[in-house]
Amino acid sequence: MRKITMGRGAVSDGMDTNATEQRTRELSNDKHTLIIYFSRSGNNEKQVRFAAQKLETDVYELGVKNPYPSDYFATVQRATEERESNDWPELIEDVPNLDQYDLILLAHPIWAMTPANPMRSFLEEHGSELEGKEIASFSTNDGYGSGDTQQVLRVLTPGNTTILNNYSVRDTQAESSRNEFSKWLSQLKR
Ligand SMILES: Cc1cc2nc3c(=O)[nH]c(=O)nc-3n(C[C@H](O)[C@H](O)[C@H](O)COP(=O)(O)O)c2cc1C
Repeated sequence: MRKITMGRGAVSDGMDTNATEQRTRELSNDKHTLIIYFSRSGNNEKQVRFAAQKLETDVYELGVKNPYPSDYFATVQRATEERESNDWPELIEDVPNLDQYDLILLAHPIWAMTPANPMRSFLEEHGSELEGKEIASFSTNDGYGSGDTQQVLRVLTPGNTTILNNYSVRDTQAESSRNEFSKWLSQLKR
């Protein structure tokens, strides 16, 4: 069974969700809400499972061609280098056609006070495909909030994309905050 590690400083067993070959892809022909997510150490994946069940959404997990190291500090080092050089990680390119979706939820960790690098790659490459849609981010963090998430979404999507309020929770409080998360999700029901 996959071991899920929690939070900052956690050293994983090398089976981080981002490194598994079987990424989650739950795609239908008829649903109008899609969750696109990246989760390195499992916290966002758990939030996604909860949200997908509550809202009955499709789900697509982003994959990076070169998965991040399981060591936390090595990950921070690589992530910093990518950010400082604007050299965002290359994604596995099997992103589904987004035409059928009206609402797209983006779930991701916060890295350096901004959406984790793979989500940034997604927005850089596919942000224009969110034209005319409603989008919202939900994230986990280690206690410092969602940083500049809203600004990043605004800059990397067309002007007629509606950006709804985001939800970010400290990962250690995710389970005990399920009521709050549930309420936030309820207002997204379409
Ligand atoms: C490279 C890196 C940078 C991080 N930077 C921040 C940060 O700036 N602020 C924060 O609150 N947490 C930060 N964290 C902690 C993660 O946001 C937190 O552990 C999150 O729950 C991980 O989600 P995941 O398990 O879905 O990968 C960072 C973690 C990593 C690996």
